[in-house]
Amino acid sequence: MTKIKGIILAGGDGTRLKPMTDLISKQLLPIYNKPMIFYPLSVLIKAKIKDILIITKPNEQDSFKKILGNGSKWGVNIDYIIQNKPRGIAEAYILAEDWLKNSRSLLILGDNLFFGHGLNSLIRKTLKKKNGATIFAYQVSDPHRYGVVTLKENGQIKNIIEKPKKTKSSWAVTGLYYYDESASRIVKDLKPSKRNELEITDLNNKYLKSGNLDVELLGKGIAWLDTGTPDSLLEAANYVKIIESRQGLLIGNPQHD
Ligand code: DAU
Repeated sequence: MTKIKGIILAGGDGTRLKPMTDLISKQLLPIYNKPMIFYPLSVLIKAKIKDILIITKPNEQDSFKKILGNGSKWGVNIDYIIQNKPRGIAEAYILAEDWLKNSRSLLILGDNLFFGHGLNSLIRKTLKKKNGATIFAYQVSDPHRYGVVTLKENGQIKNIIEKPKKTKSSWAVTGLYYYDESASRIVKDLKPSKRNELEITDLNNKYLKSGNLDVELLGKGIAWLDTGTPDSLLEAANYVKIIESRQGLLIGNPQHD
């Protein structure tokens, strides 16, 4: 079986969470009873991905290593690399090119929280796909804050626009992406956007143009939570507490099921 590798992008400045992020990386802030990064890490581990790369800011790598180590306590291999400046989510594929060694990969943003059982089976189904890319979309009331995917009547993708001022679609592109081995090559041809970033939406649009992009719509049984602001951080923590206390289930626990 071909190896599929996992990447967690955990850099960025966490500007909206200052002063909390002055000393500690956003993705290490607690969400109720665990550091934020445990949640995306557990998504990769539950998808049975064994090789995981964590991309951090230069001075924060040691803190991540202290908390996560080499992954052996969860039966996975964790490697680390540095992103010197937040030059965009798609830059992950330039930084990770040598590490990927032409593998297919699942990329997850270190501040994206997904809960719900349907997700794992959807991911496992997606990982069987040999060619192309897949994005995962979620219905939101404030799509202008995200990449937005508009669908045709037959369910195929019409277009994806990064933070559109106006849109009729309510389907936000979540921070979970699956790419075949071409991703690094394609990203090298991307030009930085107006905000001087290599945009993940531009990479997705390249796959779309070549007819190689699928979308999976995350249903009502799955929750996708934001953690970008103090309010959303608190809401995410409350969400985890309610589910864990009520159902006695641990969520965001990086163990195999
Ligand atoms: O959360 C999903 C959204 O993520 C998507 O809908 C958008 O299409 C996508 O562009 C992105 O939106 P944002 O612009 O809001 O992403 P942000 O800059 O907040 O970065 C997301 C995470 O990735 C954040 O935890 C920091 C990290 N990051 C970001 C950049 C640009 C890095 O580690 N390095 C980077 O260069």
